[in-house]
Amino acid sequence: TRPVPVIAIDGPSASGKGTVAARVAEALGYHCLDSGSLYRLVALAAMRAGVSFDDEPDVAALAGSLPARFAEGRVFLGDEDVTEAIRTEEASVGASKVAVLAEVRAALLDRQREYRHAPGLVAEGRDIGSVIFPDAGTKFFLTATAQARAERRYKQLIEKGMAANMESLLKDLQDRDARDAARPVAPLQKLPDAVLLDTTEMDVEQAVGFVLDRVRS
Ligand code: CDP
Ligand code: CDP
Repeated sequence: TRPVPVIAIDGPSASGKGTVAARVAEALGYHCLDSGSLYRLVALAAMRAGVSFDDEPDVAALAGSLPARFAEGRVFLGDEDVTEAIRTEEASVGASKVAVLAEVRAALLDRQREYRHAPGLVAEGRDIGSVIFPDAGTKFFLTATAQARAERRYKQLIEKGMAANMESLLKDLQDRDARDAARPVAPLQKLPDAVLLDTTEMDVEQAVGFVLDRVRS
């Protein structure tokens, strides 16, 4: 039997991975995995439990028993709707801090692989093509300039009625990218077998079109 096809989309913060992955999944009728939300949930669970982001055994225990649920576009931690709470700057920074811990990444590995169901999966994150699904049929590395990405994130937060400051957003994003790229475990990287897509001058439509063309060819 043929393995269920996977499309891997990795890249830095606000490069458009989530938006593009969701649109591509919809076009193909595939399932979709936003792996970053798992790291965000772990960070939020640690904040709620008063566990420090660098306390590896305790954070990994939280990751291993994470009561995460995804339903109708909302994200739940236990009974609580945390869709907005996981998008704050504090949770974003926390996510990238717990993401450096090898035990935390190990605790989330199987959970991510379980999303691979027929007819196919579009998964996005930082290590989808390198660690989670190294056998993915098509791999993309989505990127854009830091300025363009910070502006996108700013617009997104304002539209949701959330607090946003352009200067601190840009700084957080650059610090987070640096931490993601420099870590020894599963660093953010452009793999040799990934297709590079710089979306700085593209809108969502164009980025989705590019990915679909590549997948279909
Ligand atoms: O998942 P990731 O953090 O990479 O990005 P996202 O959450 O999808 O956010 C990207 C934001 O930029 C969304 O509001 C998109 O509508 C917008 N955008 C994009 O994704 N791609 C472009 N080529 C242009 C804008
Ligand atoms: O939406 P944005 O691209 O800003 O972040 P995200 O994809 O939600 O991921 C939040 C953080 O989780 C990232 O900064 C990474 O540190 C971590 N992450 C990771 O290490 N591996 C993944 N596959 C996905 C996210």
